[in-house]
Amino acid sequence: MEGRKILYSAVQPTNNLTIGNYVGAIKNWVNLQNDYDCYFSIANMHAITVRQVPAELRQRTLSVLALYLACGVDPEKCVLYLQSHVSAHAELCWVLNTFTYVGEMERMTQFKDKSARHAENINMGLMDYPVLMAADILLFQTDLVPVGIDQRQHVEIARDIAQRFNNAYSPTFKVPEALYNKVGAKINDLADPAKKMSKSGENPNGAVFMSDDRDTVIRKFKRAVTDSDAEIIYDPERKPGVSNLLSIYSAFGGKSIEAAQADFAGKGYGEFKLAVGEAVADKLAPVQAEWKRLLADKAYLDGVLKAGAENAARAANRTLAKVYKKIGF
Ligand code: TRP
Repeated sequence: MEGRKILYSAVQPTNNLTIGNYVGAIKNWVNLQNDYDCYFSIANMHAITVRQVPAELRQRTLSVLALYLACGVDPEKCVLYLQSHVSAHAELCWVLNTFTYVGEMERMTQFKDKSARHAENINMGLMDYPVLMAADILLFQTDLVPVGIDQRQHVEIARDIAQRFNNAYSPTFKVPEALYNKVGAKINDLADPAKKMSKSGENPNGAVFMSDDRDTVIRKFKRAVTDSDAEIIYDPERKPGVSNLLSIYSAFGGKSIEAAQADFAGKGYGEFKLAVGEAVADKLAPVQAEWKRLLADKAYLDGVLKAGAENAARAANRTLAKVYKKIGF
């Protein structure tokens, strides 16, 4: 729609997605698509910066797509596509590489972390990851980039690169702003509530996956770490476990934190944990049924990706053409 702000985000198809991803990203996308012109991609080009098993990557890509659709991301309302289907990403990335300094990339926190974790494979792609992400964002003349706080540095560098290019030539790229999640939108590990929930946590009960069945979900919540007093109040500093559970209950039950707190006034932790587990399991059941149905409909999924790629390429190629002209191609 004319006059609406443009919003861009992407998800890597590498994770077995957790309820943390649901609250922090998927649910957000579902809401944002009503108010902005949204481009959402599955970032498979970013995914190969660490080694992937090809068949698994292909399968996870479809699985992530089907999950987002099952959760309510609507291809009639937004442009949903696969990054590798739009060659402008790689092409703009190459140009932007010449506006990015090696020293800046070496200083990126995520590059340093991943280099430490994948010391046997510190490839150029891993180092170039932020430039590809800048290309993703800048291709679409993006106003807003909803991301987790861990992606802050990457959005900042995209802004720097855009400004550098604009100053060297003439205004070409919109300089994007990051859009961070609201308080309570970050879900922590159930077993170690000081840490963000992720699939790679040490305790297998700490993360709840979107694919977990009802019994598994409830078992994980029953084992969630709380604390030794018995008050169910939201206080992330003093009571990280209980506060995390209240955030989850609020996100999955569609209630404010205050309303969630009121629901449990005077109740015990056992009852509380069970209720949170049930709220999550109730919400997941229909999503999982739809997810499964969509995954069996390969023709539909392929159709969504094909239409998405056409729409994304049209917008991206407009920017790329301008860039090529300005640099003298
Ligand atoms: N790097 C992001 C992540 O891991 C995913 C991503 C790729 C992205 N390209 C993007 C996010 C562009 C926002 C905009 O979460």
